[in-house]
Amino acid sequence: MTSTPPPLWIGSIKVDPPILQAPMAGFTNYAFRQIVREYGGVGLHATEMVNARGFVWLDENEAEHPDRLWGVREEARPLAVQIWDNQPEVMAKVGKRLVDDYQVSVVDINFGCPVKQVTEKAHSGSYLLKHPKTMFEIIRRLVEACAPTPVTAKIRLGCTRNNVNCDDIAKVVEEAGAAALTVHGRTAQDFFSGSADWDRIAEIKQHLRNIPLIGNGDLDSADKVVAAFENYGVDGVMIARASLGRPWLFAQAHAALRGEPVPPEPTLELQRQCMLRHYDMIVERFGEAKGTVLMRKFACCYAQGKFGARHFRTHVARVSTASEFYGVVEEYFPRDLDAIEAASQ
Ligand SMILES: Cc1cc2nc3c(=O)[nH]c(=O)nc-3n(C[C@H](O)[C@H](O)[C@H](O)COP(=O)(O)O)c2cc1C
Repeated sequence: MTSTPPPLWIGSIKVDPPILQAPMAGFTNYAFRQIVREYGGVGLHATEMVNARGFVWLDENEAEHPDRLWGVREEARPLAVQIWDNQPEVMAKVGKRLVDDYQVSVVDINFGCPVKQVTEKAHSGSYLLKHPKTMFEIIRRLVEACAPTPVTAKIRLGCTRNNVNCDDIAKVVEEAGAAALTVHGRTAQDFFSGSADWDRIAEIKQHLRNIPLIGNGDLDSADKVVAAFENYGVDGVMIARASLGRPWLFAQAHAALRGEPVPPEPTLELQRQCMLRHYDMIVERFGEAKGTVLMRKFACCYAQGKFGARHFRTHVARVSTASEFYGVVEEYFPRDLDAIEAASQ
């Protein structure tokens, strides 16, 4: 890296380094965030998306708050909570609650989710990219309700390849008072196919006057993070999928941005231990039965791309008790060939 990118500011919140951990439903819960924190390299963590209407309902019925807010009260800051819905008043109510009761650092709005349940059924997420006026109203009301806590927006390039309207949307987002814009370089129609269009992300920069632009999509190595800053003029980057089984990726990217040697991948033994710490946290929260089932998908992520991953996946997909989980990990989690050789000598 020719020069280290400066910290990024979201309102009064300093994001240092300017590397953000993406919100991922079903994955970026408190346990995952804590595991990522062990390695460092993240300037701003994010929760999974929380349905604002569901939160209001739970509140009015004096039920417990959403599971997705697990840990949010206690954990380290800065922390962003992401919410979604299409009703400005509902969003404002939840935003205020998150600020007053949870003291979150940032309230982020999901305008990017392409899943049918959110778009077609609830007219929210990326569906709203076709409705900039509603987006404006949601952001404006939320900014008002949360002040001085900053509100941010996360979008895709547009709904379809024929309607890439991110430049106009970027202006709407800034005019409505948001403090940062994150862009995933695909359209909703793309879902996850093809590659993220970073040239298109870069073009958005000229349509923003003061707020930072955070680029997102396909960053899976320290080199790619460095290249994103060098080639596309973004103020920050956000990493999602690649960090799921490699929570140390942020720390690697951070080192590269500072021009320091990139820490190597942890040994498979250390990766295994990391996964087991992750499992302990999940089980402590959800109990053995539910926690073990929930952990299956995380465990698959840790093994992904390694020799023997397929075998491990087949077996871990069936575990339902702690002893089954530990047994499968012991027998099938990928091992360093060097370590196997050393042990057999
Ligand atoms: C399983 C999964 C869940 C996701 N959930 C959310 C979410 O709750 N909110 C959101 O804004 N984006 C969500 N995303 C999108 C990511 O935040 C990110 O924009 C996308 O994966 C592209 O980044 P990547 O190439 O680094 O994965 C999710 C993605 C995945 C794979």
